[in-house]
Amino acid sequence: MKILGIESSCDETAASVYADRKILSNIIASQAIHEKFGGVVPELASRAHHTSIMRTVDQALTEAGTGLDDIDGIAVANGPGLMGSLLVGLSFAKGLAVANNIPLIGVNHIDAHMYANFIEHEEVYPFVALIVSGGHTRLVYTEKLFYHKLLGKTRDDAAGEAFDKIGKILNLPYPAGPVVDRLSRDGDGSFHQFPRSMIDNGLDFSFSGLKTSVLYYVQDAGEKFVQKNLNNICASISEAITDVLVEKLKKAVNKTGVQNVMVAGGVSANSMLRNKIMVYASETGLNLMIPSIQYCTDNAAMIAITGALKMRENLQDDLTLKPFARIEN
Ligand SMILES: Nc1ncnc2c1ncn2[C@@H]1O[C@H](COP(=O)(O)OP(=O)(O)OP(=O)(O)O)[C@@H](O)[C@H]1O
Ligand SMILES: [Mg+2]
Repeated sequence: MKILGIESSCDETAASVYADRKILSNIIASQAIHEKFGGVVPELASRAHHTSIMRTVDQALTEAGTGLDDIDGIAVANGPGLMGSLLVGLSFAKGLAVANNIPLIGVNHIDAHMYANFIEHEEVYPFVALIVSGGHTRLVYTEKLFYHKLLGKTRDDAAGEAFDKIGKILNLPYPAGPVVDRLSRDGDGSFHQFPRSMIDNGLDFSFSGLKTSVLYYVQDAGEKFVQKNLNNICASISEAITDVLVEKLKKAVNKTGVQNVMVAGGVSANSMLRNKIMVYASETGLNLMIPSIQYCTDNAAMIAITGALKMRENLQDDLTLKPFARIEN
């Protein structure tokens, strides 16, 4: 079964071909235009998707050495995300599907972040997933394919959003997550003790307090001090965020008694988080799934594999498929 995946939910236009448990191509056109605004500008994002979607899909098919006549299903992210951006990918996918008589499969972008793990790991259930991305921070218990129970979620900022907003306070370029990660590697994480919000309370998360705490810290310390100690400050922030994420994951594992654990979404690329979770998994003998870096942030390979899983379960859609901005809970 050969699946073409299309992703346009935020600021990456991406296309990928998946067949027989292998990714044959994985093309990502990132939109640099948002950098100067310090965040994604929705109208500019949809226009940029419009400009690049045709050649991105073309390139994915060419690199996979295939044509549309060999494609068995077109999987497309139909939410959550920016409505204008989603509509570009969804309309394009519908057009291709109807013109070439190929089944259409709508894919939930957050499910896809999770199932990206099955590109490189055996498909196993049940598992607990920590999903940490730009817009979401969620802990879910997945009993079997597409049967998810929400265990906890953020009450305010997502983990990626926290990295990005705190990076803005530190005058770092957008998106700041990877920059804070890089700077942290040469810093001392015990330099300053930032708050670990809600670390002892349940399985929900909160990161807005940390953001305020960094803002006050920077205002008190002054520009010169912050620049001089940037690596140490970044490392201390990364310690605070990752401590909370790892602690909540441990709680979720203890609560559910699972043996399989996965981490997913853009923040799963974070080196400190990866290290801490790897140590935890090896100490406890858990089966840990984390995607390789290329499948952590937005990509269409994750859409294609999730589409293949849906096709396997006969979960195709039709042309009434609609985009949606948010997940229900
Ligand atoms: N190495 C890293 N360390 C920390 N954060 C990172 C790293 N790499 C990427 N990120 C963060 O990941 C986020 C992007 O992830 P992703 O592409 O999954 O988010 P999104 O698609 O915008 O949101 P969502 O998936 O929730 O709709 C950004 O906030 C970015 O800063
Ligand atoms: Mg994403």
